[in-house]
Amino acid sequence: MDSAERKLLGIIGAGRLGQAMARTALRAGRRVVIANSRGPESLAPVVSALGDGVSAGTVEQAAAAPTVVLAVPWEQVPGAVQGLQWNGRIVIDATNDFAGTDFEGSDLDRRTSSELVAGLVSGARVVKGANTLVAAVLGSDPHEAAGQRVIFLSGDDVDAKSEARRLFEDAGFSVIDLGDLVTGGRMQQIRAPLAGVNLIRLPDAD
Ligand SMILES: NC(=O)c1ccc[n+]([C@@H]2O[C@H](COP(=O)([O-])OP(=O)(O)OC[C@H]3O[C@@H](n4cnc5c(N)ncnc54)[C@H](OP(=O)(O)O)[C@@H]3O)[C@@H](O)[C@H]2O)c1
Repeated sequence: MDSAERKLLGIIGAGRLGQAMARTALRAGRRVVIANSRGPESLAPVVSALGDGVSAGTVEQAAAAPTVVLAVPWEQVPGAVQGLQWNGRIVIDATNDFAGTDFEGSDLDRRTSSELVAGLVSGARVVKGANTLVAAVLGSDPHEAAGQRVIFLSGDDVDAKSEARRLFEDAGFSVIDLGDLVTGGRMQQIRAPLAGVNLIRLPDAD
């Protein structure tokens, strides 16, 4: 399969997490269009370091991919997605509400951060994922200690979650589906039990 035939992943946010997701996508045999707030020209060193299969784009170009990873700081989420049309595309929400802020005036004790994100990307099918590991771990080879690193996913749309599962499994992760966006999101968001947990699934003993 040549590069043009490989599936495309859009990434909004080209910092630590966005670049780690780009490495994950490359491991999975995907192509990547990655965007930041300052425009594609500013990303020349980043795409050059990430290598073949990665190009820089505008936020709109990244958001036009069939699956899009949201990897911007929490406070920047509303601005980053403002005006984008989703039309059923998949958004993997990798953000964490580090600041404990509350951009909708909602009480995060009652609403998960991904519910707030889902409200901002109306028309997208949101999967929470890639937010529990620090970027350096996420971006490294998931094969470790003779096993596979675990990644947690949650979401309400079965097909969207399957597509996200394929991405991470193709990259070498072992996926644990935590259920719907609210149930799973409550376990994997910042300050929740699975935040920062780096689990390795060992092969079944025969
Ligand atoms: N770092 C981690 O280990 C880690 C782990 C798990 C989850 N996360 C989550 O991932 C998200 C990103 O964290 P990070 O550590 O990668 O942050 P970071 O290194 O500071 O990078 C942030 C990126 O977001 C871009 N950005 C900011 N506002 C934007 C906008 N309006 N439109 C497009 N791009 C915009 C920035 O572009 P410019 O430089 O051009 O402004 C930059 O490329 C956060 O929600 C964080 O909680 C991070």
